[in-house]
Amino acid sequence: MNLILNILKTIPLLQTLTEDEYKSLIEHILLQYFPAHYKIFAKGVPGDAMYLIKSGTVRVFDESGELATLNEGDFFGEMALIESAPRMAGVETLSDCELFVLNRAEFAGLMQKCPSIAEKVQKAYDDRKNENKENLHNQTKW
Ligand code: CMP
Repeated sequence: MNLILNILKTIPLLQTLTEDEYKSLIEHILLQYFPAHYKIFAKGVPGDAMYLIKSGTVRVFDESGELATLNEGDFFGEMALIESAPRMAGVETLSDCELFVLNRAEFAGLMQKCPSIAEKVQKAYDDRKNENKENLHNQTKW
């Protein structure tokens, strides 16, 4: 339990949590191992969890190609939860990965309880949405 707690404390997104909030989160968060080149989910499928990268690298992609690579400390999967929409892109591992998995209910609880986390997640969501829009715009320009 303490080991997971210490690992959880290394995730930048969560660093404003209090000790009690960490302890409550630990009861609901899963640490899962994924091998390299594993498809975590495809674009367009329903989304029921957000992922925080403890170690490793993942690739975010759609039919136009790679949208981003994400590393230790980054997170993904927030868009489908915020929008209640299908996954906006596919995600696969590029290396062995350890990911914390937060289900929809826990994600909602965390957003509600911790405005500073909600703000960071919302900012990533807005930036990613704009980036993808710009990408699409540049592709269809010609
Ligand atoms: P979601 O739509 O749930 O599933 C795919 C995830 O990829 C998405 O949430 C974001 O977390 C992530 N994602 C989408 N577009 C980008 C981008 N341009 N840069 C980084 N991450 C992205």
